Amino acid sequence: MSRQPIVVANWKMNKLPSEAEGYIQEVAPKLAKYPNVDTVLAGQDVLLNAMVSAAKGTSVCIGAENVYWEDRGAYTGETSPAALADLGIQVVIIGHSERRNYFRETDEMVNLKTLAALRNGLMPIIAIDEAVQLESENDHAHWIVNQVVESLKGVAIADLGRVMLAYEPTAAIGSGQAMGPEITQKSLRIIRQTVADMFGQPAADQMRILYGGSVKPTNAYELLAQPDIDGVLVGDAALDAMTFIELVSLAD
Ligand code: G3P
Repeated sequence: MSRQPIVVANWKMNKLPSEAEGYIQEVAPKLAKYPNVDTVLAGQDVLLNAMVSAAKGTSVCIGAENVYWEDRGAYTGETSPAALADLGIQVVIIGHSERRNYFRETDEMVNLKTLAALRNGLMPIIAIDEAVQLESENDHAHWIVNQVVESLKGVAIADLGRVMLAYEPTAAIGSGQAMGPEITQKSLRIIRQTVADMFGQPAADQMRILYGGSVKPTNAYELLAQPDIDGVLVGDAALDAMTFIELVSLAD
């Protein structure tokens, strides 16, 4: 089963509105060379309006980095999934380890956000982390399986085609040291098997699963060559427009 590769830039809290437009104008014409790779630029909420305008008529998808689980209401400071969809946002990252660790997001919150994103027609990228030093391979597998199961609870099989999972081991994030391709492949295989156990093999075969954590042009090719790694979720390296293009070319 062939799954279209995807390169997602997670800008985190690193760009200003005045910088977002120039980046998109730089990358958009170059991306036309790579129609077989999907690309997403995810920015903080305050950038999204400018990003959507700059990306209009291009192949770039714009993503949010977080979302709340209610569509409307008295939730000061939160971002509604309905508002994201109305703005033209297509993708949203949910449960990034920075949100789990700094803002105490739980598996239950990740699940509620996932269901809310799907209800509003968004494509969630659910981040699966590995936040603790785990003693054994079994602990490691259990940790991953549990997050996948909890975050996908109640997702309708018809919606599963819009869900992506991203394995981001905390130790690899921002460290300059990505996980090795083989060990990453093992974790992604566990993730895909968990999806198969929950929803059946065909659904698992269709799902795109990404790796994130110090991806850069020197390691992206090898990671993407692994059978279960369908894409990359990139922080630091994707802050530079030309490096983002290079990563897309490696995914092609
Ligand atoms: O979501 C992307 C991420 O957490 C990885 O960040 O800077 O290690 O590529 P980075």
